[in-house]
Amino acid sequence: MHTHKHIIANWKMYLRFTQMVNWCNEHYDTLHDMSQYVHLGITPEATAIAAIQDVLRGIPSIMVGGQTCSHHHLGARTGEVSAQSLADIGCDICLAGHSEQRAYHGITSDDVAEQVNMLLQHRITPIVCIGETEQERAHGATMTVIQQQLDPVIPYLNHHEPAYIYIAYEPRWAIGSGTTATHSDIIETANVIRTHMHKQTDVHPYILYGGSVSPSNSESLAQIDEIDGFLVGSASRDFTAFQQIIRSAIKTGK
Ligand code: PGA
Repeated sequence: MHTHKHIIANWKMYLRFTQMVNWCNEHYDTLHDMSQYVHLGITPEATAIAAIQDVLRGIPSIMVGGQTCSHHHLGARTGEVSAQSLADIGCDICLAGHSEQRAYHGITSDDVAEQVNMLLQHRITPIVCIGETEQERAHGATMTVIQQQLDPVIPYLNHHEPAYIYIAYEPRWAIGSGTTATHSDIIETANVIRTHMHKQTDVHPYILYGGSVSPSNSESLAQIDEIDGFLVGSASRDFTAFQQIIRSAIKTGK
């Protein structure tokens, strides 16, 4: 079995529709080449998902998907995006519980579990984002927090039994700050995630690290065997930077 790394771009709301579509058109050939050596994914703003899928149709191994979905069934939920519709347009992946959703939209770990339930019901692979705040870290609560964030999700994994899901460890203080977690923190957290899940489920987690991944640290972060890849925010907007990160991952993948 090959162990290519997994690199997912989280474009947040950084780019407008035309920029997102142009990015994919302009770099189609390079993405096509690189996709033979790495598992690539892009989560654009919801308005651009279908257009980007269209542009990248010739590279079926690139995963495209949403940044969040409603944890409710179809109904009176103005402004929300349903897992059903994400499935209808052919999304492969969807983030669940990104820290910006937790912080700005009040999404709780129970809501995240419901999102995972919705996504798995519709055969979309969730990328469950977990991570501690600066304050929780200062109180030595990191491991407790990540286990508490994972626990509500696990019964739904056991119910749907997907072959795999993604867990993205993204310390909140590392997101957009220019500071990454240390190697030893990432290794320790990845081990705790694996052990904690292994006790309760047979579902395989691919573990991603996210939080200020950039071309200046990706070579070194890619050496960490305990993680399977990265979730990249701001550096993924700029194709040159994103490509350098992908190349670091290709070098250390097998
Ligand atoms: P960042 O964001 O790479 O800009 O720190 C990562 C994320 O929020 O997924």
